[in-house]
Amino acid sequence: MPASAQPRMFRHRDDSAQLTLADVRRDIVGIDTPVPLLDGTRRPYVFLDNAASTPAFGRVLRCVQDFLPWYSGVHRGTGFKSVLATEVFDAAHDVVGRFVGADLSRNAVIFTKNTTECVNKLANRAGLRPDDIVITTLMEHHSNDLPWRKHCTVIHVGVLEDGHLDLGQLRSALSHYRGRVRLVAVTGASNITGLCSPIHDIAEWTHAAGARLFVDAAQLAPHRPVTMMPDDDPRHIDFLALSAHKMYAPFGTGALVGPKQFFEQGEPDMVGGGVVDIVTLDHAHWNHPPHKEEAGTPNVLGGVAFAAAIGVLEAVGMETVARHETELLRYAYGKLRRMPGIVLYGPTEQLDDKVGTITFNVEGKHNSLVAAILGVEGGIGVRNGCFCAHPYVKQLLKVTPEEDTALTGEVLAGNKSRMPGMVRASLGCYSNEDDVDALVSMLERVIRGDIRGTYVQDRSTGAYHAAGYDPDFLEYFQYHVPDIHGDRRPSEAS
Ligand SMILES: Cc1ncc(COP(=O)(O)O)c(C=O)c1O
Repeated sequence: MPASAQPRMFRHRDDSAQLTLADVRRDIVGIDTPVPLLDGTRRPYVFLDNAASTPAFGRVLRCVQDFLPWYSGVHRGTGFKSVLATEVFDAAHDVVGRFVGADLSRNAVIFTKNTTECVNKLANRAGLRPDDIVITTLMEHHSNDLPWRKHCTVIHVGVLEDGHLDLGQLRSALSHYRGRVRLVAVTGASNITGLCSPIHDIAEWTHAAGARLFVDAAQLAPHRPVTMMPDDDPRHIDFLALSAHKMYAPFGTGALVGPKQFFEQGEPDMVGGGVVDIVTLDHAHWNHPPHKEEAGTPNVLGGVAFAAAIGVLEAVGMETVARHETELLRYAYGKLRRMPGIVLYGPTEQLDDKVGTITFNVEGKHNSLVAAILGVEGGIGVRNGCFCAHPYVKQLLKVTPEEDTALTGEVLAGNKSRMPGMVRASLGCYSNEDDVDALVSMLERVIRGDIRGTYVQDRSTGAYHAAGYDPDFLEYFQYHVPDIHGDRRPSEAS
């Protein structure tokens, strides 16, 4: 299908029907939800943890609700609802493929539960032998590193002082290991510094070395336009993975996009219902991808939600999203750079190749303490630690090999109190200056010591907790069966 064609089951969008980012913000599920603070008051949550997972677009929720009366198990059902649901679910694959600019006549879109599952699937399916080489980088999330280590020899390309990938070293590795390199696996954007790699240049070098390129787009696809490009273009991306829960559709779907021909070969990594055309007692004849790679009953609602979220992002325009996030990042760094006592990681002025991820530390304060204060005194959701990218974080923090060995020993002995780390505030397309201002003003309080709570560290986790902060979660959410337990929401309870 040409990249521009609308898949079946999707209403053709009137191009004049654009959404603004203000529309999108108003429609974020839970945008005004108050959370409890240490002083007993409540304030609307400031959601700055979008790199981990985003809240849902209201439009995604409504699309899922609209679809639910038509819900049925898909594929092989003969009833109306099953046939309709099959059309909808299959079309969701096409929506995702179009969004990343894949040539759908030659590539399959395989739904998984997240990017981690995508990388594991690719690593399982690539037929790697122990001597084969996969080149990855020091910047990677563990999801784009550990799966490769299970199968073959992994070479980690280093990073420069400012956190950028060392492209010279990547090219040297490609030429040094030429003939043995099967795949290059790089992140499109780092979950630590937000730095984007020049994926199309890397594709060209990778192809020239006779290997294929996998791009982990978990942090790139929510923030920048992505195109895999035509398959015969030397700059094209062979495999790409992304997660819907980082794209405002937290309903449990991810996608791996790659050549149909690749997935036609070999056995699926997971077998069971749906992956076969016919089974005899001693043989299974595999179905075509994506079915071959989606064993069991698929997550139909997750697919619908993913496609709906993409519809919203496209109605805003990914260029608009990128521009807005860069401007907001510039606004944030403009303030943070001027604050004494804040240590920022990665570039803070040249922001064109960086998504909205801000990592920092407050001098003299443990990253976990700062994150706890932001949470319980400011109602601000951030994340701290090493963010599933331990080698990169330790490199940026200049942890020496001796310190690393000592830390590993402490952690294995059950003491994480000295684990190094950072605090991460990450922006979404709906984030605005108010969110940044809330962060900055809380950090000013932390720096001048205007902290109300007493915080105690749990050595086994490294986390700090505020003494006396013990909200009753049941006041905020309880599982309930409407019409049996009543339709009242916990927050409405007297
Ligand atoms: C760059 C990157 N890759 C992969 C992942 C894994 O994504 P998921 O948790 O959706 O599997 C993440 C998650 O934060 C990430 O930031």
